[in-house]
Amino acid sequence: MGKKVLIISTSPREGSNSELLASEFAKGAAQAGHKVEQISLRGKDIKFCKGCFVCQKTQRCVIRDDADLIEQKMEKADVLVFATPIYYYGMSGQMKTMLDRGNPLYTTEYAFRDVYLICSAAENEDHVWERARSGLEGWIECFPKAKLAGCVFGGDVTEVNTVIGNPAMEKAYEMGRNI
Ligand SMILES: Cc1cc2nc3c(=O)[nH]c(=O)nc-3n(C[C@H](O)[C@H](O)[C@H](O)COP(=O)(O)O)c2cc1C
Repeated sequence: MGKKVLIISTSPREGSNSELLASEFAKGAAQAGHKVEQISLRGKDIKFCKGCFVCQKTQRCVIRDDADLIEQKMEKADVLVFATPIYYYGMSGQMKTMLDRGNPLYTTEYAFRDVYLICSAAENEDHVWERARSGLEGWIECFPKAKLAGCVFGGDVTEVNTVIGNPAMEKAYEMGRNI
């Protein structure tokens, strides 16, 4: 039976490069027989974590918004994929907010074991996305049954849709196919 794959795309832009890469990953994973759900945070109601820790007792966030629903999907997925634009050499604020809102997961029997990172940036050197990877690794460190299983970086892409034809598209597809 295929794995349950949840892809969370965090760019606010239509035609987002990181989202296009995520869609290639999704195609590859679906082709390989996995059950894929791709969600965009664009237009979603996502509030900041309040830091109240109620979720550590109840396994559910007190804030009833879209992040609460996405967090429940995260708990059940076998594979999590985060797609982000690089903002100031790090992950997007939207992605960081979603990771923080994943705090209820900490005391659950979360299913995810493999976590992937997809990102895009205007520049094309590895140091551009290292902090995004390191930030996600910090989150994963709190979930000892999970690991960072792979990353795809599309560099040299500033305007929307410019990642089309970039070698990272093929890499994203192959990564999805081989989860
Ligand atoms: C607020 C902001 C900060 C950015 N910071 C960087 C950066 O530090 N390095 C870089 O190479 N590109 C940077 N960019 C460019 C984006 O990473 C690039 O346009 C990327 O393809 C956007 O991904 P998206 O199409 O998925 O939104 C920045 C863009 C914005 C809007």
